Amino acid sequence: MAPSTSFIALCGLFVHCTLTSAYTLTSSYDHTNWYTSFTWHNEPDPTKGTVEYISLAEAQSSGLTKIVNNQIYMSVDNTTVIDASSTSGRKSNWITSNKPFTHGLLIGDFAHIPGSTCGAWPSFWTINNNLGGEIDILESFSDNTQNFALATLHTQPEHNCTFQAPADTQIGTPNNDDYDCTLPASGCSVTGPVGSYGDPFNANKGGVYAMDWTSTYIRIYFFARANIPADITNGKPDPTKWGLPMANFDSKYGSCDVGASFPEQTIYFDTTFCGAEAGTSSGSWATWTDCAKTTGVSTCEAYVRQQPEKFDTAYWLINSVKVYQ
Ligand SMILES: *[C@@H]1O[C@H](CO)[C@@H](O)[C@H](O)[C@H]1NC(C)=O
Ligand SMILES: *[C@@H]1O[C@H](CO)[C@@H](O)[C@H](O)[C@H]1NC(C)=O
Repeated sequence: MAPSTSFIALCGLFVHCTLTSAYTLTSSYDHTNWYTSFTWHNEPDPTKGTVEYISLAEAQSSGLTKIVNNQIYMSVDNTTVIDASSTSGRKSNWITSNKPFTHGLLIGDFAHIPGSTCGAWPSFWTINNNLGGEIDILESFSDNTQNFALATLHTQPEHNCTFQAPADTQIGTPNNDDYDCTLPASGCSVTGPVGSYGDPFNANKGGVYAMDWTSTYIRIYFFARANIPADITNGKPDPTKWGLPMANFDSKYGSCDVGASFPEQTIYFDTTFCGAEAGTSSGSWATWTDCAKTTGVSTCEAYVRQQPEKFDTAYWLINSVKVYQ
């Protein structure tokens, strides 16, 4: 956002005036209000993962969510062995923000995200579930590490949305030439740099993911903890000073009416298992990742059901999520 003309004019009159970002805090979610700001969904997983999403009451009573040292902990069940012949899945959290938003800057500060674990498929994302338009800010699966945190957009077919940013306008790398955001294809997708996901992200004490969204662009930023800009820490974030985004979905570099394709968004967190991304013996379990080989288990579903202890690191530890507009 550009500072308003009147603000610049006013600034000119005062010696001590400094230009600041036009973004101001409109929603702040942390340990003080998390459970009243998000809704838990104990419903079947739309992505058909090997998961059983539980209610907030059950998540709290079983310790799958709690407040620890002013941070929000959300884990998966890492103790129950599920029968191999069962069709049920591993317990986990799927939550959505009660208050949607349109345009602005979304900043998630994470001390820990699910580790690089075969079979897990966590995501921090936004969507308009009625009109379509999905922004996957931080998503990956299985034992991916540095090069596979994905920022991906999905749009409704009528918008014909594509992006192909020049390499010198983003830090990330286009995934597999996926420039077309149009559903039902896999989406326009950019992979993050070293340390942007899983165990390496956590080894750096976590970090920040930010999504800067206007009617003409969607930019995703990733900062390891040591590199978080001071303006974020100070609560006066100014993306114009941050340098290159990890992913630059700018209508300048493609064909997309960002305003029309991405209506009001709700914030989501979930950790599922297997499904389209982390599972399928013909797909990622055996081919995109080396999970079949490293686990010695031929299917993702059997591994997830029978080896709860492998999911000790599949937890979120969230400092805050903030929306600036
Ligand atoms: C999208 O593409 C279809 C088929 O080419 C076309 O009919 C439609 O007008 C396009 N829509 C937009 C918003 O460009
Ligand atoms: C489950 O994982 C948590 C970390 O999320 C860990 O503290 C706990 O010890 C694990 N439980 C068992 C039974 O290993």
